[in-house]
Amino acid sequence: MEKIFAAYQERQNILAANSPLRKRVAWVEEELTPLHEPRIPILDQGFMHSDLTYDIPSVWDGRFFRLDDHITRLETSCTKLRMKLPLPRNEVKQILVGMMARSVIRDARNYMFIQPYVWCIEPEMQPVGRSGIIARTVRRVPPGCIDPTVKNLQWGDLVRGLFEASDRGAEYSFLTDGDTNLTEGSGFDIVLVKDNILYTSAGGVLEGVTRNSALEPAGLRLRLSWHLWKRL
Ligand SMILES: Cc1ncc(COP(=O)(O)O)c(C=O)c1O
Repeated sequence: MEKIFAAYQERQNILAANSPLRKRVAWVEEELTPLHEPRIPILDQGFMHSDLTYDIPSVWDGRFFRLDDHITRLETSCTKLRMKLPLPRNEVKQILVGMMARSVIRDARNYMFIQPYVWCIEPEMQPVGRSGIIARTVRRVPPGCIDPTVKNLQWGDLVRGLFEASDRGAEYSFLTDGDTNLTEGSGFDIVLVKDNILYTSAGGVLEGVTRNSALEPAGLRLRLSWHLWKRL
């Protein structure tokens, strides 16, 4: 783990030495532009009503992580919203790869723009962990209102959870479904390990690519209580 983080830090140092304009790039209407240039039309439905979906494939040391899984989820999300991905998936892939090539960033979180990698928990805190609460004042929006399997920008509940965490002297917030079942947090799924069994939410959450990766290693899948709701 230390070796991985040290290599990451080295890449960060190289990135810091480069001009900021070369760091971030966006693909808008078939052109690559610096990220600060594009503007969203004020009447755009995505802006007005959050009528949109998106996805965020990661890049680690120059390589995409499960890009096909992300594009498949994006296509599924579009279908659920009765939208059509405007480009064939191969073209989406090519554009993303082209953007990475144009950027000096080696570790990234990509929308249709590239920005440096954002950690859920920074490397230096991972060995010791951070503080979290189970939110009392807010619940995750019910799937009957907003389908959480469609990646969306409705973050009102997640942000309220973060406010509560801050009020209670913590950093992270885990939301329940209002009926004692854990769902997810602000930008991450939850996987608990108890007595060598993994527990995770059976529904009401974004089906995370990262979570799938944590569950897939040999042996774990069999023990996974995927269809159980973990009672608190
Ligand atoms: C609400 C929510 N849950 C879970 C996740 C984790 O998804 P993934 O592992 O595919 O990044 C995200 C990622 O942004 C998210 O926004």
